[in-house]
Amino acid sequence: MRCLLSACLLPLILHSCTGADWCYQTQVSCDSHCKGPDQWSKVNADCGKNRQSPINIVTKKTKLDERLTPFKFTGYQSIFDSTMKNNGHSVQVSIPITATVSGGNLEETYKAVQFHLHWGTDGGPGSEHTIDGEQYPMELHIVHMKQRYNRLEDALKDPSGVAVLGFFYEESSTSNRKYDLFTHGLRSIQNTNGNTTLRKVSLNQLIPPESNMTNYYRYDGSLTTPGCTEAVVWTVFENPIPLDGEQLRAFSTLKFHDGKPMAGTFRPVQPRNGRVVYRSSSAAIAASTVLILASIGAAFGLSRPN
Ligand SMILES: *[C@@H]1O[C@H](CO)[C@@H](O)[C@H](O)[C@H]1NC(C)=O
Ligand SMILES: *[C@@H]1O[C@H](CO)[C@@H](O)[C@H](O)[C@H]1NC(C)=O
Ligand SMILES: [Zn+2]
Repeated sequence: MRCLLSACLLPLILHSCTGADWCYQTQVSCDSHCKGPDQWSKVNADCGKNRQSPINIVTKKTKLDERLTPFKFTGYQSIFDSTMKNNGHSVQVSIPITATVSGGNLEETYKAVQFHLHWGTDGGPGSEHTIDGEQYPMELHIVHMKQRYNRLEDALKDPSGVAVLGFFYEESSTSNRKYDLFTHGLRSIQNTNGNTTLRKVSLNQLIPPESNMTNYYRYDGSLTTPGCTEAVVWTVFENPIPLDGEQLRAFSTLKFHDGKPMAGTFRPVQPRNGRVVYRSSSAAIAASTVLILASIGAAFGLSRPN
């Protein structure tokens, strides 16, 4: 904060007791009294707990878990119409159909509730999770809850009640036609609380083909916005979704409630606090090297007898 002490401290003192709203670091300034990520624990104490998200995934420290098999999706191919909304922190789309995910060592079947994204400034770094310190330009979160719950607030009381599938984006030289309706829709929801109908979309259309979803990371974490509830089983996929520069920049044309560009909508990475990040058998370069060595070993008859 570059501002005169008097101009800065006085409002802080005056507002320290009021329930100021939370905001991202890009929104913190002298004249906005919102609480940035380092103050979120004052908005909700859970934000200061010890299994928070997002995290940086250090691939060399991940643990191979053979139970992280491919997922089974249902309803992901169904075409639906929905409302996409600028909720003041992101763009969010509710999922009005039954779409579920199971397998991949999830305890039970989870149904999709909504999806939203986190991004940077004009296509710059903006993902929430990072891989070996690399921040991707954007991250998609498809939020699911255990099928037996009817309300997200009930699922959030269960330490594994919510499953979020996270996908990174990477900048590509050609545009991703499957995203055209979505990115065009952004034009109609520039202002906070703006909404528009997103027509003829399917979840499959937004994510990589199933064959490219076998490489992923798993850990126990939280929601990445206040209340930061520690009820999330995280799955972060390794293969990113391609979007061109123009498509990525379209997200920064949305506006926060004060009319400033909606950019930098990510929470900084949180301490891992000894949590183990598991990887599916095909995730990470380190893993493929092991597999290659194992198959060379096998070819030379070096494998252990069973
Ligand atoms: C969408 O906006 C209209 C007003 O433009 C409002 O009446 C409606 O409730 C909004 N829908 C949602 C889902 O926010
Ligand atoms: C699938 O993954 C491969 C290898 O990472 C990549 O080259 C290819 O572009 C991916 N396909 C899609 C549609 O994402
Ligand atoms: Zn999110």
